[in-house]
Amino acid sequence: MKIDIVTLFPEMFNGPFNNSIIGRAADKHILDIAFTNPRDFTYDKHHQVDDVPFGGGAGMVLKPEPFFRAVANIKKTLAPESKSRILLMCPSGQPFSQQKARQLAQYDSLLFICGHYEGFDNRITENLADEAISIGDYVLTGGELACMVVVDAVSRMLPEVLGSEESAVTDSFYNGILEHPQYTRPREYKKMQVPDVLFSGDHAKIRLWRKRKALELTLLKRPDLLENYPLSEDELALLKK
Ligand code: ADE
Repeated sequence: MKIDIVTLFPEMFNGPFNNSIIGRAADKHILDIAFTNPRDFTYDKHHQVDDVPFGGGAGMVLKPEPFFRAVANIKKTLAPESKSRILLMCPSGQPFSQQKARQLAQYDSLLFICGHYEGFDNRITENLADEAISIGDYVLTGGELACMVVVDAVSRMLPEVLGSEESAVTDSFYNGILEHPQYTRPREYKKMQVPDVLFSGDHAKIRLWRKRKALELTLLKRPDLLENYPLSEDELALLKK
């Protein structure tokens, strides 16, 4: 997948994108990540990317020209038939979710636009981006961290990105509910025991136990998730056990 990031601070991505699973995917060219600085698309002496808001008020607003030019330049590099999407990172965007990550993983190319400190001129929001995405109801100093979150979550939905031991299909949220609890060695630690069922060797029983735990955990900690997860007769029976 081609990932283009329009940002005034490309250095912010150095650590997160050069390590662990994303770093490995980039090394293997499963992800091809490129950065474009809108400041390189300013033609004035001071390379100005922002200006005062029309109508007055505090703060500065990111100017349209550097962003439109940066995106036009990236578009020239994309294969004409490639399925691509332009995403604007901002707190007023649609909430990001696992479902959204899975949807975005279907594209050949994603182009992210990050702002910093200030808001975007609304023509960027309305006419340049296909959609705006928020990672939560709080305001960050810029879209870069939000973009890293989205790239990370989307990347691990690509079949080649996770190794065989790192499966996405058992993740929390993958099936719409939380993941069941996991245990590893030792069987007992400071008098805390691993549930006996996991040593039973009865795989059907373990599967049912895990399903029940996942449902219980979701009911207890994130009951809101069950609104979009219609429980089957079998699942209702499991919960009542
Ligand atoms: N930029 C600043 N805050 C943000 C948020 N919550 N989500 C996405 N982009 C942002």
